[in-house]
Amino acid sequence: MGDPVNQSIANQVVIVTGAAQGIGECVARHLARQGATLALADIQGDKVASVQTSLSQTGVNAKSYYVDIADTTVVKAAIASILHDFGRIDALVNVAGLDAPPGLAWEITEDDWRRVIDVDLNGQWWMIQAVLPHMMAQRSGKIVTISSISARRPFPDHTPAYAAAKAGLIGLTNSLATQLEAYGILVNCILPGMIGTGTDINMTQEEKDQYQQTFPLGIVGPEPVASAVSYLLAESGDWISGTAMNVSGGGIRGI
Ligand SMILES: NC(=O)c1ccc[n+]([C@@H]2O[C@H](COP(=O)([O-])OP(=O)(O)OC[C@H]3O[C@@H](n4cnc5c(N)ncnc54)[C@H](O)[C@@H]3O)[C@@H](O)[C@H]2O)c1
Repeated sequence: MGDPVNQSIANQVVIVTGAAQGIGECVARHLARQGATLALADIQGDKVASVQTSLSQTGVNAKSYYVDIADTTVVKAAIASILHDFGRIDALVNVAGLDAPPGLAWEITEDDWRRVIDVDLNGQWWMIQAVLPHMMAQRSGKIVTISSISARRPFPDHTPAYAAAKAGLIGLTNSLATQLEAYGILVNCILPGMIGTGTDINMTQEEKDQYQQTFPLGIVGPEPVASAVSYLLAESGDWISGTAMNVSGGGIRGI
């Protein structure tokens, strides 16, 4: 609370996927405090509706949408509804993602492998593909994809499918940035480190010490990712496209 309204964000209709919980919910609440109008999308329809209700009760202009980002029919229908409801789309923040249970590449089931790639890579593209005709026609737009430092540094808690999808997103972001700059559309990617979203409360002291060795800047929760999104969407991001922004508390360096 207490963030000043940012006029360059307050003018925008922003889609946030994965907004039912975690980083996506944090991004939505952060942008709401800065005055954005929000289209909140998630496969957990009831949960994202309750996030929307709590925001609307504080005067935020927001609507929620059931979306499975891996289903192109559902995605296209949701984007049509959002355009019908708000008349425009200025930004898309692709947060929704998942992983299969941790495991060795050769032990992951075909279904798990396909679902991770379908949601974490293909799903982000289907969302982008669906908003592009509108953004290209209006000759402006900002797109932020959420990758992970797992794209750059392997973690045993994550499957190789997840690392592959998240690395693919960086390539997708760079390629789209190149092709879309002439249309005034900026595309960037954020690589979060391991974010405290509540489960860290139960960490033992030993686990906290281990965490601190990997992420020297400590456990701070999802707010730095939300701030990075807001930096890119606001006027401050108007000269930034094709970046992979490292928001990892020191978890990776040099990119
Ligand atoms: N939490 C971390 O430490 C961390 C680190 C790096 C990257 N990330 C990435 O950040 C994003 C959010 O992570 P989180 O920790 O908040 O995860 P989370 O599991 O708490 O939230 C993910 C949200 O995405 C939604 N979702 C999943 N599949 C979907 C689909 N097919 N269609 C629409 N919505 C779907 C879920 O319902 C959920 O609300 C993910 O892309 C994740 O890979 C997270």
